[in-house]
Amino acid sequence: MSHVHRFPARITGEDGAPQFYYGADYNPEQWPREVWDEDITLMQRAGVNVVALGIFSWARLQPTADTWDFEWLDDIMDRLHAGGIRVDLATATASPPPWLTTAHPEILPVRRDGVILSQGGRQHWRPTSPVFREHALALVTALAERYKDHPALIAWHINNELGCHNAWDFSDDAARAFRLWLQDRYGDLDTLNKAWGTAFWSQHYSDFDQIIPPRLTPAEGNPTQLLDFRRFSSDALRDYLRAENEILARISPDIARTSNYMVTGDTPEMDYASWMGDVEFLSNDHYLLPTPDAIEELSFSAARCGSLAAYKPWWLMEHSTSAVNWRSVNPPKRPGEMARDALTHVAHGADAVCFFQWRQSIAGSERFHAAMVPHAGADSRLFRDVVSLGEALTTLAPVVGSTLLPAQVAVVLDYESWWATDQPFLPSTLLDHHEQALAWYTALLDTGVRVDVVGPNDDLAAYKVVVAPLLHVVPAALAERITDAVHAGTHFVTTFFSGIVDEEAHVLAGGHPGAFRDLLGVRVEEFHPLRAGQSVTLDDDATGTLWCEPLDLDEGTETLRSYADGPFEGKAAATRAWRGEGSAVYVSTHMDWWYLAALASEIVSAAGAWADIDMPTPGSVITTIRRGADADYLFLIPRSPEADVEVGELEGILYGPTTPTITGTDVVVLRREHDV
Ligand code: GLA
Repeated sequence: MSHVHRFPARITGEDGAPQFYYGADYNPEQWPREVWDEDITLMQRAGVNVVALGIFSWARLQPTADTWDFEWLDDIMDRLHAGGIRVDLATATASPPPWLTTAHPEILPVRRDGVILSQGGRQHWRPTSPVFREHALALVTALAERYKDHPALIAWHINNELGCHNAWDFSDDAARAFRLWLQDRYGDLDTLNKAWGTAFWSQHYSDFDQIIPPRLTPAEGNPTQLLDFRRFSSDALRDYLRAENEILARISPDIARTSNYMVTGDTPEMDYASWMGDVEFLSNDHYLLPTPDAIEELSFSAARCGSLAAYKPWWLMEHSTSAVNWRSVNPPKRPGEMARDALTHVAHGADAVCFFQWRQSIAGSERFHAAMVPHAGADSRLFRDVVSLGEALTTLAPVVGSTLLPAQVAVVLDYESWWATDQPFLPSTLLDHHEQALAWYTALLDTGVRVDVVGPNDDLAAYKVVVAPLLHVVPAALAERITDAVHAGTHFVTTFFSGIVDEEAHVLAGGHPGAFRDLLGVRVEEFHPLRAGQSVTLDDDATGTLWCEPLDLDEGTETLRSYADGPFEGKAAATRAWRGEGSAVYVSTHMDWWYLAALASEIVSAAGAWADIDMPTPGSVITTIRRGADADYLFLIPRSPEADVEVGELEGILYGPTTPTITGTDVVVLRREHDV
């Protein structure tokens, strides 16, 4: 995986030292020009030094097929430059204008049930449409040529959240592209027929032209076709990213390129690990989920960004100052939460803190989405908090450019397993790969250690503990790498319904879990998924939900937990097999968090992993370390906004309160001289 990693030009403060990038999506086209001057004054007051500009401005830049209007963009670019504000300029291709969709309705995406999605929202385009591509790339070319030497420009922002709303398209364009993708993957029809298991239900293909995307069918479709379509859909968007990228690289090679990804728990569509060679620096958008483990999910997402960026700095391109507008009920953030969220991203390597958006709209779909300047105006608690966050980032400037220090413990997030377990016709449709990964991440945080979130292709052997829950799809090479890592000293943990199928989604027969049977020293003949509301009890009083199964243990496999009731009473529920310098742990049910944390703690201590700081209550804060040239920066992030946290007497406080007790939204950053 090539990851060039070229960062945008650094912005320096009065002392010449690099500063955090601080800013927002900026949509001046929604406002009269008088407001622009006030915007720039307020940006300066808040310490904003960068904006993402022009993201949804295609219709304004190209009002008809044959007319272009760059005057307003020239004007605002110049004004921003004069105000000392840099620009991450969007290629503006995310939302095609009505003249284009009216003239070319064949660019509109098609749903699985055949319904064509119309203009009137955004992202109403097919990733594989040659017509869309022709028009969009003409716009990219025009923008690149016009602004490549503009002094305000520090980055190109390719499209916007590729795959937001249009990740899956079942159109004829998609069908054509899918066939080519399949030819590339399988070479010939024989291989494809075998891979897809088309002997089943009379699905044999005798010509590639007979293949279509998995459109709505009377009975549920072919599992390998479904999995391949998800792989294809992620690749098709990446292909489009490449098309824009190539133009920018050719015309404007001096400016760093990014595209804002969505590494977050509610966006499973894109496998970003395979997209990292296609941007020069990673940027991510993250919106807090309305769940009890929202801060852990934020941290999980940021940790994945850290490893995707190869532990180098990345950009937080969007998050929200307060409420969003696209859930059924959208409460605001509590005071302190905005800064806590922003600094949690910084803790995991973000060198940019940006929001959607600068000024809250008064018209359009996102009128009720919070912004840096709210409807109430600059005389508001929210804007004052925005100014304080800008000041906090100035205090934290020594952290800029430092790298994220890898942890000793990692959780694996695997998109293929996420996709393959998000299908019908499985032993249970209640399984959620991301949810399982997050549950283990949370349990591991409870032990007080730092935890990375990695992909299956990352260097797993670098970790003392690797937890890969619901790692369902396991190609032979992955099983081999994990086995080698264990023999070399890694303690590997996996759970129910893992190691069950290969990359073609074919079951590895001979007793489950086929890919890990020898490594784990267990064998399962029949799964026993639990219905919603059903549970079993383990001998440590843990409640097990979702799954249970009868484990047959090889000689030497130890029992860590047993079933105390249910169909497998007295049989092993969790096991450990020692292999070489390491071990392999198997957990056959979903344990509730208190007990999962206890098990995680046993595993972490057996592996000799340690917390970087002793807290009066271990696990009450999330810790990360950013390593600078001559010091480490240790971040402490409280996990519960309602509860105060006792941190004791801390030394070397660079940022945050100096009291032994902090509130649930205070982030503390300690500076420690290198001990290496
Ligand atoms: C996404 C988009 C933005 C905006 C926000 C609102 O992240 O990129 O344009 O719609 O959502 O949360």
